[in-house]
Amino acid sequence: MAALGGSLLRPEIVMREIWLTELVDIIGKIVNNGTKIGLVVGGGSPARESIDLVKPLISNVGALDKIGIAATRLNATIIKEVLIEAGISTCSTVPDSIEVAVSLMMDFDVVVMGGTQPGHTTDNVAIKLAVATNSSKCIIATNVSKVYDKDPRKNSDARSFDSLSLFDLQNIVGPPEHFRAGDSQVVDPIGVECAIVNKMELNILDGRKINNLKNSMEGSNFEGTIVSW
Ligand code: UTP
Repeated sequence: MAALGGSLLRPEIVMREIWLTELVDIIGKIVNNGTKIGLVVGGGSPARESIDLVKPLISNVGALDKIGIAATRLNATIIKEVLIEAGISTCSTVPDSIEVAVSLMMDFDVVVMGGTQPGHTTDNVAIKLAVATNSSKCIIATNVSKVYDKDPRKNSDARSFDSLSLFDLQNIVGPPEHFRAGDSQVVDPIGVECAIVNKMELNILDGRKINNLKNSMEGSNFEGTIVSW
């Protein structure tokens, strides 16, 4: 199970065409070995741009969330069409609930989805899908190398972790609340709560480094933070 941060599709990612080609290659190999994959794709720049555009006009967080969800589904559509084109058994629709995704995973090797309901981010969707499919872990591919105790862009003394407990991670990200649409934390605190309740291991890594993602998917050593019970 993997959550792909939508920012991984952003133009700033150098050679994103190569990144996408390698992603397809990795997924093709994993499914050939008999493993099914659920991919949950974040909203990235379309989500941020669209939410910023209408924030002065819309104060309702749930309404802004719906715009963010539409962006996640756009990005999910991009990924699933690329996988279908590559001949990988991938569901041709983007499910809008965990229940539908779980049932589609019986028929396809790969199911790609975006957001579901207002009130959380795709991190929480990925963790819920991992739980619902009895996955061994949930990979959160983002654009930081590891989890830090504070924002490394603002604090030069920020400390990174190779491993953490789920409770340690909760202390870093805070209580399970969703105040603002498009607000970004290293992992959605609502998803962390879900991981705690279900004792779900999280692998948090920099998905821009495609080999990192590959190693984590294959169960090998990777650069990032392992968060376990
Ligand atoms: P993302 O999952 O991309 O969240 O969803 P994010 O953490 O803000 O962005 P990244 O991961 O750093 O790129 C974008 C926005 O869409 C809404 C939320 O407002 C979220 O911030 N959303 C997404 C939902 O309301 N529900 C969902 O299931 C998914």
